[in-house]
Amino acid sequence: MKFQYTLGAALVAAMLATACGKKEEAPAAAAPAAPTAKQSVEVLHYWTSGGEAASAAELKKMLEAKGHEWKDFAVAGGGGENAMTVLKSRAVSGNPPTAAQVKGPAIQEWANEGMLASIDAVATAEKWDDLLPKVVADVMKANGNYVAAPVNVHRVNWMWANPEVLNKAGVKGMPTTWDEFFVAADKIKKSGAIALAHGGQNWQDFTVFESVALGVGGAQFYNDALVKLDPAALNSPTMTKVLTTFRKLKGYTDAASPGRDWNMTTALVIQGKAGFQFMGDWAKGEFTAAGKKPGEGFLCAAAPGTANAYTFNVDSFIMFKLKDEAAQKAQGDLASAILSTEFQEVFNQNKGSIPVRLGHDMSKFDDCAKLSATDFVATAKSGGLVPSVAHGMAIEPAKQGSIQDVVTAFWNDGKLSVAEAQKRIAAVATAK
Ligand code: BGC
Repeated sequence: MKFQYTLGAALVAAMLATACGKKEEAPAAAAPAAPTAKQSVEVLHYWTSGGEAASAAELKKMLEAKGHEWKDFAVAGGGGENAMTVLKSRAVSGNPPTAAQVKGPAIQEWANEGMLASIDAVATAEKWDDLLPKVVADVMKANGNYVAAPVNVHRVNWMWANPEVLNKAGVKGMPTTWDEFFVAADKIKKSGAIALAHGGQNWQDFTVFESVALGVGGAQFYNDALVKLDPAALNSPTMTKVLTTFRKLKGYTDAASPGRDWNMTTALVIQGKAGFQFMGDWAKGEFTAAGKKPGEGFLCAAAPGTANAYTFNVDSFIMFKLKDEAAQKAQGDLASAILSTEFQEVFNQNKGSIPVRLGHDMSKFDDCAKLSATDFVATAKSGGLVPSVAHGMAIEPAKQGSIQDVVTAFWNDGKLSVAEAQKRIAAVATAK
């Protein structure tokens, strides 16, 4: 899985192109569109929250504008674990959908099963190799053919806050270190609000954990420990500090946290019941859907200690082999819609992410998205750009799952010591 280490470098080039104001070239005239029969296009995804559903609706709209019928195959469950289980059973029974929301190293696993279709006809006609950062493109390919279409770039290491809750508690500004965070959290707790909105589900625990690892240890440590799975980093005193800091956060969560969905958790911040949440910028989609504006209704900042780093998460759709020629054509139309400038603009504004296309004009995006784009360029240059482990960008899914299990067990079981958890994480991470 060499690409996991180089994805950042290609994205750097992409964002540098954006930063340098590289003008987007007019897309090559695609082959003249032949009239297509109305085809049902079944798309598996896990975008079911308010902001996510609004984003998915844009894709549906665009596909319908091309004369097709959108067959929604939504499987609720943040992070997509439920969706992957359902997808596997559909695939095993020989009845996969047209496309499915799958990303990172998992794309190669599906390709290795021989189930994915080449969408090179569209990709070549529309010059995807020029539109996309090379290594994003490489992740979308199997044996040199495009088998998936990328949608966006999400940043995971965000901290969201309700400014009124902070004000009421006497917290001035967003904390920039973990020490500052705990001081602010104590004040919020004292004021009677929930200091940290957290949904106790394994993937949410892991999302917070990776931000703590990045903030406490820095990008180099994060890469060594969680991407390269280097035993020295995993067994280091830095990892001990990460686990200690992570555990301390638990004391600032509310009693109803276990099992709560991420969007219901964001709602606590939106409603002024909680001060902070650590979550990727799909959370911004919830603030936006609730009519809130950054800087007024909510605040965004990098998680403490991570201002110079960026955990990226690229959503994408894999395309399944289809027998029927008209269905294949509709599948190509879906792929084409995903990469269109029009879709990238409207989808990402709803979703909270930034466009994956090179040179996209960010002028209509909000301040958090602009910060994301700027930080992306800066961290790419500095080496602070790292793949999100919790969101399937860095290591094979099975290994990701085993590490996540230990992190969740540690979060939930106060009797599991830091030393024991550290030993277990190192053991599962380095197991052959
Ligand atoms: C996906 C996002 C999604 C989030 C919550 C992440 O892993 O990349 O698109 O909004 O999970 O389900």
